[in-house]
Amino acid sequence: ITIRRATIEDLLCMQNANLNNLPENYLYKYYMYHILSWPEASFVATTTAVGNELGTELDEFEEITQNETKLSVKLDPCYVRPGEKLVGYVLAKMNDDPSQQQEEANGHITSLSVMRTYRRMGIAEKLMRQALFALCEVYQAKYVSLHVRQSNRAALHLYRDTLEFEVLNVEKSYYQDGEDAYAMRKQLVLSE
Ligand code: ACO
Repeated sequence: ITIRRATIEDLLCMQNANLNNLPENYLYKYYMYHILSWPEASFVATTTAVGNELGTELDEFEEITQNETKLSVKLDPCYVRPGEKLVGYVLAKMNDDPSQQQEEANGHITSLSVMRTYRRMGIAEKLMRQALFALCEVYQAKYVSLHVRQSNRAALHLYRDTLEFEVLNVEKSYYQDGEDAYAMRKQLVLSE
């Protein structure tokens, strides 16, 4: 597994992973906005496909164009490029809400997810630590905030116990289906 900075070429795969893993989904332009505005804040976890694995992931289909049969090869939407498969991402930004201008610089974790078969391997923790480091060191964030569903035990454990975020408050009916969110926050300290 490789953890690296997310680029524009990764965005479709990140959106695909988000659609697979979470009910909170965003327009493509919102992903673009993150990467163009804070190019060093978001990260992806990828794995290299070896040998036959790539072949089995290829989905061949026939496309009929003007009486001509053209054989096209469509890549699995998890592939960033042939041989490199996205298994997780963290989408992060700085808070640019004009109503909070007087607050000290702070970052926000918009979305984090890891594909089901790659969970419990420490990937989310690594992605989050990279994003927190970048928000602090590159963008001078003094703290980072995020929202998480009250029922999301795995994510809550990760944020509260592993990464030491604190629960700031409960936001009633934060999610579209009416579920409450924990608003969480972590202070960041510049490294020496
Ligand atoms: N149950 C309890 N604790 C868990 C679980 C679980 N199923 N999964 C992770 N954790 C906690 C543990 O504290 C774990 O540490 P440990 O393994 O030393 O006990 C710690 O998180 C780190 O685990 P990772 O292996 O790094 O987490 P993983 O890569 O499995 O990803 C994630 C965790 C992102 C929550 C994953 O389960 C997932 O993608 N879920 C669906 C999407 C989601 O809920 N995303 C977060 C939404 S909130 C937001 O986006 C701001």
